[in-house]
Amino acid sequence: MPRILIVDDEPTILNLLNKILTGQGYDTTPASNGEKALQLLESEAYDLMISDINMTPINGMELLRKASKSYPDMGVIMLTAYGTVGTAVEAMKEGAFDYITKPFKLDELVLTVQRALEYNNALTENKDLKARLEHREQLEGIVAESPGMRKVCDMIERVAPTSATVLVYGESGTGKELVARALHHYSPRKDETFMAINCAALPAQLMESEMFGHVKGAFTGATSTKAGLFETAHGGTLFLDEISSMPLEIQSKLLRVLQDKQVRKVGGSDHSEVDVRIIAASNEKLENLIEQGKFREDLYYRLSVISIDIPPLRKRPEDILPLVDHILRKELGTDTELPMLDHETQNILDNYNWPGNVRELENTIQHALAFVQDGTINKNTLPAKIVDTVEEGIRSGVITDRREMFKGKSLKAFLHEKEKEFLQKTIESMNGDKEKAAEELGISLATLYRKLPQNTKKPV
Ligand SMILES: Nc1ncnc2c1ncn2[C@@H]1O[C@H](COP(=O)(O)OP(=O)(O)OP(=O)(O)O)[C@@H](O)[C@H]1O
Ligand SMILES: [Mg+2]
Repeated sequence: MPRILIVDDEPTILNLLNKILTGQGYDTTPASNGEKALQLLESEAYDLMISDINMTPINGMELLRKASKSYPDMGVIMLTAYGTVGTAVEAMKEGAFDYITKPFKLDELVLTVQRALEYNNALTENKDLKARLEHREQLEGIVAESPGMRKVCDMIERVAPTSATVLVYGESGTGKELVARALHHYSPRKDETFMAINCAALPAQLMESEMFGHVKGAFTGATSTKAGLFETAHGGTLFLDEISSMPLEIQSKLLRVLQDKQVRKVGGSDHSEVDVRIIAASNEKLENLIEQGKFREDLYYRLSVISIDIPPLRKRPEDILPLVDHILRKELGTDTELPMLDHETQNILDNYNWPGNVRELENTIQHALAFVQDGTINKNTLPAKIVDTVEEGIRSGVITDRREMFKGKSLKAFLHEKEKEFLQKTIESMNGDKEKAAEELGISLATLYRKLPQNTKKPV
């Protein structure tokens, strides 16, 4: 049971917090000032501290500083009066997980506490996982050369060991299911079931019985009692794909299951306990759907304890060619020699904007493999649409050729460096006499000054 230390010098607030959090099943210890808190911290270990900022003689910030230094594994949430958010932000810089403004809403408090504890769990358990992953360059089967994808992999490593609900965002074909499977694979549930349901593919009634099961005779066609995905995935992970398409009535039912950790079959009256980790995916921001009344806000809060954003492929060009290698390997197996990609083809793949993301790249490579000759993937093996789009884009200036641009830039920078080195060396060899150096170099003194960095401009 998580242990929470609550610190506030206002007795009413202290009691209120204590009552709420005890009611949520936490093991709480109240402290009426910073000194008492420090004493308690010395004698006992806590998972979380919730502290008011405005206290005397030791104020909340000082307490926070001492706690982050001596007890870095403990999460801290700060309480702040309305209108002093500046201090709260300061507190987060000092290592607080989050802050809550007074007066606070009950569910806001409960949720923030829940997140802080889950985050801390993730950090602690992450240490074990890190050790296991130490010798591995990347998570199995996920190409991640770009900073954007590295961040996604870091998140996977951090949250996989927990049971926290994760919401995965990404355009179509970016790898949402791949991430969901990795979260399962690197979790303690890896030997249990991973079940997936596509919420966009089923009509409401079917989805309900699919998820929660039904009893015999619950509706026409229900000839026998059937377990739902929640029961089947008990102990494992349930992946709710395209959650944005889930009808509101199912959303309410799902919320209840998440809160009570129990399911009731359609048409049935018995409840059964379920322990399932939920991972949801969406290619639309759920916040927008909440505004349109299409998604329940309370469900959103439950699902988005942790969210992972997968950037579209066009925003991480570093991944394109490594992905091509990975896809070729997957298609051809380990025993076959991989075909080469000529320069022009690499250029086209690099410059296309991949609206269908990694899936589209996979299809493109499969297409190319069907046409490949002499072990080389050239432009003629690519789908015409892709070649045309890139060539037309470069002609009209819509696409700037990334590879050429990069090359040009780095060459310019390189020459600039070399020139500077050469000028400095010549000046040195003339004992610092710039006039002589200019003469030696065959340029005017003015040109020499222009080419030198600012600080050496003054004549000696
Ligand atoms: N970073 C990556 N490394 C290796 N393979 C990847 C990567 N990202 C995606 N893929 C591959 O691309 C294909 C599409 O990925 P996935 O099905 O997970 O995407 P998705 O976001 O769920 O797509 P959709 O929105 O269409 O359901 C899969 O074959 C997956 O293995
Ligand atoms: Mg998918």
